[in-house]
Amino acid sequence: MRYVVLTFAFVVVATISILGFRGSKSTKPPIEIFNDMDHQPKYMPQGKSAFFADGRADRPVPAHAVARGSFLEDDHLAFGKDSKGEFARGFPMDVTQELLERGKDRYAIFCVVCHGESGDGNGITKKYGMLSTPSYTRADLLTMPEGEIFNTITNGKNTMGRYGDKLTVEDRWAIVAYLKVLQRAQLGTIEDVPADKRSELGL
Ligand code: HEC
Repeated sequence: MRYVVLTFAFVVVATISILGFRGSKSTKPPIEIFNDMDHQPKYMPQGKSAFFADGRADRPVPAHAVARGSFLEDDHLAFGKDSKGEFARGFPMDVTQELLERGKDRYAIFCVVCHGESGDGNGITKKYGMLSTPSYTRADLLTMPEGEIFNTITNGKNTMGRYGDKLTVEDRWAIVAYLKVLQRAQLGTIEDVPADKRSELGL
């Protein structure tokens, strides 16, 4: 009988202590058994500081500070724009064999799946329903300023995603250069081949 009473009392106390105070509010800090780095010598955002003369923990941005990523002063290089804010024609760097090789390499990784190896728009994704991928020989793309193509790669266009966060500025320009190679490869004529080399083509 004694055990029954004791067990009953224990259950009552346990139930009340576990459930009884749920929902009741307290302004006191919680009991901390392990304080898990809750208290650190640090400033909270918009907090006060006795150290700085203006009393603020937040420091104002120093003069001439440049936001990360906006260090490129050349708008042509950074955004494909000219000084009037229009899409620029041409490249902001020398188009070298090395740049083209780099462009080919990146193109194979980032663009081939949709645009296809020759740039005809028939990459593997067409089979899976990505029907709107254009060929680079679409008339308007032939005359489009290089800066606008650069912008498409950077920010994407309609159903095409953006690659600005996946490819460096230089790599994006390298791809634009390679894209021009693909266009030329499709539309080249015998006139593009130096006269003394034409016989080598066996034409
Ligand atoms: C996931 C598929 C996919 C990938 C990957 C992709 N594209 Fe596209 N791209 C598209 C589609 C779809 C369109 C058509 C967008 C539209 O509806 O205007 C397009 C359009 C374009 C256009 C034409 C934009 C215009 O002005 O009409 C260019 C240029 C282009 N892509 C270049 C690239 C380059 C360079 C890469 C690699 C960095 C790339 N794309 C990667 C699907 C893709």
